[in-house]
This record gives sequence, structure tokens and C-alpha cells, in this order.
Amino acid sequence: MLEFDDLKKLLSDPDSLSTDLSDLGDYFHDATEYSAPPLAVLMARNRDDVTAAVKFCAERNIPITARGAGTGLSGGCVPSKGAMVLSTEHLRKLQIDPEAKTAICGPGVITKELTDTAEEHGLTYPPDPASYEESTLGGNVAENAGGLRCKRFGVTKDYVIGLEAVLADGSVLRTGTLGSGAGFSLGDLLIASEGTLAVITEIAVRLVSPSPPGTTILASFSSPRDAAQTVSDITTAGIIPTVMEFLDGDAAACSNEYEKTEGLSDAAAILLIETGDGELGVQASKIRDFCEKNSCRLLRIEPDHQKAEALWMVRRNLSKATKELARYWVSEDLAVPNSRFPELVDYVAQLNAESPVRLNSYGHAGDGNLHVNFLAPSDSPKIVAEIERVIDLLVDRALALNGTLSGEHGIGLAKKMYLDREFDRPTLAVMRKIKSVFDPQGILNPDKLLPDPE
Ligand code: LAC
Ligand code: ZN
Repeated sequence: MLEFDDLKKLLSDPDSLSTDLSDLGDYFHDATEYSAPPLAVLMARNRDDVTAAVKFCAERNIPITARGAGTGLSGGCVPSKGAMVLSTEHLRKLQIDPEAKTAICGPGVITKELTDTAEEHGLTYPPDPASYEESTLGGNVAENAGGLRCKRFGVTKDYVIGLEAVLADGSVLRTGTLGSGAGFSLGDLLIASEGTLAVITEIAVRLVSPSPPGTTILASFSSPRDAAQTVSDITTAGIIPTVMEFLDGDAAACSNEYEKTEGLSDAAAILLIETGDGELGVQASKIRDFCEKNSCRLLRIEPDHQKAEALWMVRRNLSKATKELARYWVSEDLAVPNSRFPELVDYVAQLNAESPVRLNSYGHAGDGNLHVNFLAPSDSPKIVAEIERVIDLLVDRALALNGTLSGEHGIGLAKKMYLDREFDRPTLAVMRKIKSVFDPQGILNPDKLLPDPE
């Protein structure tokens, strides 16, 4: 498009903007099946590129979809309305202040890079989404990513202390540590807003001293219900492990197919736990008692760190493992209070028995978070309709159990049609008003998060 030649002139590197999309297929989608060609792709080199691009697009009413590494699981960064993709992956400033225990990060910093760099200073950044080796901080903030350790340590929003973001008119907002902390908590509004309110250009986070590693426990059960009851018993007893992951039998089988691991074959459900009170704490024996009370079939307490790390890869690789076995793959994400987790797990097992589409579930059970995955042989209309039917039932059940539509993947394109089941009209009306205050023209990541107008 000719008009983009004018934008090129405003950028620090004219080659950072491409309208020839032939090699840019990765920018059409995230980690879901949603995909749409953008109008152009801009790889911003710095904040000035972002402001120039946003101003330029605002003047011409061109929609903009910001994105990080594209590991999202709700279609949040898919340029579904023919938007220009604004990638912040090259904004990679990373400054640690060990004394203040803070880090200032560009949105393109990879989550693991932040954790590793913090470790060099004897500190850590706890949120660890399963894709933390690839996901970016910008994407984590946009979706309020959780992760394996979120029950004990919290999610992204619990660590963000300041944000810098480019508003829809090209001006720059600074909150918290990066600006003023007084007045409305505007930074909080931007977290989980999926690029619909502003484009994040800098993120300040707090870091913490790392806790000593706990003991890793793998327990296998004869039924998903027994594993889920163990989760509920552990949390009801006030025990907070660092990680408590649930895998149903089919998820364990997928993982075992991807990489053979002792104890995974023939399990109807697995719990993978890291205790939260170090290696010598009392949690391990209490957790063992609960596993035994719920008739666990196998219990492996792994003191060897390297072997424990291999067990954790079982969990981290699960999305890849399930995706590889499907031609069409949908990963759902629901969360319920811990005490209702067994009911949700039972319901998934019931739907699994009824539905012709293969499905399995795994998730951050300590947080009541369950990912239900659909592994289909194709995206035929019949299969897609069946998956939608099951998701519809799952959403209603999670909400009936006092849960939420999304534990950590966000709303994006995938869940916006259900938002009005979780929030009532006045609440949604406030969300729409906030959107129109930040983005009166509706150019920032249109089509996401809020339900389509009636
Ligand atoms: C995980 C992603 C799907 O937990 O959130 O593996
Ligand atoms: Zn997850």
C-alpha cells in the first residue's frame, strides 16, 4: 500500500515495515488455530517507532494489533480485522536494579531471559507461563499470564509495578514506578487488556529472592476424581505447594508418547507437585498422606534435581505433545475454586465419554485452573461445531461452579462471545466505556476481548 511509504519515512529503520507478507506467515496467528493476514507488519525498533506508527494509523483509521512472540492461546494478537501488526519483539531493554529488586523491561524481553538475568543478581521473577522460554513480557502483561507457580507466587499482575504505553493518539502514558503512582491505578487497567487500550512499551516489575527448591512428587491415580480430590484435600488443609499440576490419563498418554517417562503409562490421572517448604519441610509427608488416602497407585518422591527437572518437562511440553497429535487443536482454559475442582474434573470426564472428539485436560490445579484440549483430525464444520458445543457446556459449568472463563489465557477472539455470561450488563457497559475513553476510534486491536455489539 502506497500510504505505508509515508510511514516508512517516519521510522528509525524503513525496512522494519513490510507490506510484502510472503515470509511473514508467523504474524498471521498466535498459538491457536485463528489466523488472518495483516495489512502490514511493523517490527518496531524503539518507542518512537511505536508512537509514529500509532499516530499515523490514528490519522488514517488503520487498525493496529500489537504482538509479542505469538505464544498466546486466545487469539489475542491475531490481526483479525486486517490490522497492521505492530510487533514489539525487538524492544528488549533489560535493566535490573538489584538493590531495589526491580527490573525495567522492554515488552520484547523473553520471560525466561528476565528470570535468568534476575538470577545472576540472586533474585527471581516467579511468573512462569508454560511457554516462558518463548513468551515475551509484553504478551504476558497483555494477557496477565499465569503459570505453574502461580498459586504460591501469583500471576503477572502481582509483579508489575509500572507501565509505559503509547495511547491511541500517539501520546505516552506512564504509571507506577515509571511515572506517577498517584490517582487512578491506570497500569492495572492495561494489564490483561490485550492491546485494546494502549501499546505497552516498557514494563517495570518487582523481583524477589528465590525460595529454595522443594521436593518433586509424582503421584498417579486410578481415576481423575481421586487426583482432583487430592488437590482439594491439600488446599483445604492449608498446604500451598509451589506447583501442583493435574494431568488426566489421556494427557499423560500424550506426554508419554512425546517422551517416555516412568510412571506415566496406564495412569488415569497424574499429579505433579513441588512442595513449597523446601526439601526438608513437612509438606511432602502430608501430601503423601493425602495421595494415599485417595488411593494413589504410584507415588514417586524425587530427590534428584536432574531427574525432577525431567519430570517438569513432562508438564511443560504438554501443549506441544497434544498439538502434535492433532490436525486441529483447541486449548480451553477455565478456573474454579479449589473446592469445586473435583466437580469440574468429573464433568470433563463425562463430556469426554459423550463427545466423539478426543479431549483431554491438564492444568494448574493448585490454582483451580484446568486446560481442556480438543485433539481433532480436521477442522470440518461438523467437528468445529462439536467442539463449540462442548466448550459452551464447559463455560456454563465453570461459571456455575463460581469459576471464570479464563484462568490465564485471556479472552481474545476465543472467549469474547462468552464474556456476557461472566459479567452482567452494567459491568460490561463500564468496560465498553473504558475502551472508548482510551480508544475512541476503535483502532487498537479491534475485535478482541469485548463481545461484538448486539
Ligand atoms: C500450559 C498452557 C497451555 O499450561 O497454559 O501448558
Ligand atoms: Zn497453563
